[in-house]
Amino acid sequence: MSHVTVTTPRRRGLPYVGRTLDYVRDPLAMMRTQYDACGPVSDIDFIGKRWTVLLGPDACETALRNADKAFASGDGWGYLVGPFFDRGLMLLDFEEHHRHRRIMQSAFTRDRLEGYTAALQPAVASGLAQWRPGGDFRAYPALKELTLDLATEVFMGGADLASPDELARVNQAFIACVQSATALVRANVPGTRWGRALRGRALLEEFLGRHLAAKRATPGDDLFSVLCHLQTDDGERFSDEDVVNHMIFLLMAAHDTSTITVSTVMQQLGQHPAWQDRCRAEALALSEHPTMAELDELVDIDLVMKESLRLVPPVPVLARKTVKETEVLGHHIPADRLVAVMVHLSHHMSELWPEPERFDPERFAADRREDKVHRYAWEPFGGGVHKCLGMFFAGAEVKTILVHLLRQFEWTVDPAYRVPMSYTSLPFPKDGQPVHLSRR
Ligand code: HEM
Repeated sequence: MSHVTVTTPRRRGLPYVGRTLDYVRDPLAMMRTQYDACGPVSDIDFIGKRWTVLLGPDACETALRNADKAFASGDGWGYLVGPFFDRGLMLLDFEEHHRHRRIMQSAFTRDRLEGYTAALQPAVASGLAQWRPGGDFRAYPALKELTLDLATEVFMGGADLASPDELARVNQAFIACVQSATALVRANVPGTRWGRALRGRALLEEFLGRHLAAKRATPGDDLFSVLCHLQTDDGERFSDEDVVNHMIFLLMAAHDTSTITVSTVMQQLGQHPAWQDRCRAEALALSEHPTMAELDELVDIDLVMKESLRLVPPVPVLARKTVKETEVLGHHIPADRLVAVMVHLSHHMSELWPEPERFDPERFAADRREDKVHRYAWEPFGGGVHKCLGMFFAGAEVKTILVHLLRQFEWTVDPAYRVPMSYTSLPFPKDGQPVHLSRR
């Protein structure tokens, strides 16, 4: 640590609430004003605690690379969603995280991903075949249902493990758990978001616990079976409790994030018909059930996915807590301080991206590569040891859904439409993302 430290500015806001409401209303505006007024490192009051806010790629990089092991993920995320995603991989740290990640990595090898991708193809095609298109089709809830079905299919070995009613309850339980993040009442009080989330967690534990014994006894190729049977060379494997905790986190991580990504792409392609045509031409050129290798070769769909992840990163802020005092860009940060790594702003900074609010997928094309301006200019999947483990699966899933969507449907979105996004938790369109959808 250097000896010269800069005073860290602080913006308070209302007592207890602090800047929570500014964030929930418009996180990008809140981050911009914070950055303009206070620079890349500053303190705020947020959901009842003092947080140090990191803005811009250099500050975010310092925490995510975590060279001096000062930033813990578990205690940071733990404050926001700890009771609901307890001991999921993202909430483990240091040696324990390394051990669990090493075991779990064997569930995400190229061979396994090819297997999951093959299982996705018929499931996506038949899921979309059930959509009822129309002039006011709400894409977001339809996609959310689809991605949860896919997660149960690919991760649990079949949607027939649960009735449609039970799946709907599981979906509600995930929503309740995720929405706890910015709740101002953080106790088991009936009628509050926190109370609903605790009941959601109990339902998920019961649901997965009920299926666990069968998976241990007769394993399949799904992720749940794989987690039950994984073993490292040293013979390490997960306990029943570990498997349930990892599954609850994985199912959440896998379906909420992909849903918002496809929803953003649908909005952009609905407003940019020339891009929709380009992507459809690519989709039509693939085999009926594209393999992972075919999906890897997509160019236009890949550019559109990257640009959509830039405009609306599904995880706009990453949470950490310092386990010892440390320093970011010359600012001293004490031990036990909650830290918000606000990656969303980096995606919209005009210092990094020309015309950052413009949908311009070719900024990622080989001859432009605007994302190369800084290692952490584009970081929708995070960075460092907690970088998204499902990144390649997410790419395959999002592209599979897009390929089948483009083949089965055409859609438009009013060019003047602006998404009323909710940021009470991970971003989602409050109006369900209306599109004018017709079957081809
Ligand atoms: C577009 C989709 C996705 C996005 C944008 C995304 C984003 C992220 C981000 C930003 C993190 C890092 C959080 C942090 O450092 O605090 C993360 C972690 C993680 N994600 Fe994803 N994710 C996506 C899809 C998925 C999928 C499909 C899976 C599972 C199949 C998954 C599994 C995980 C896991 C296990 C971690 C924790 C890794 C660790 O802590 O070692 N994600 N994700």
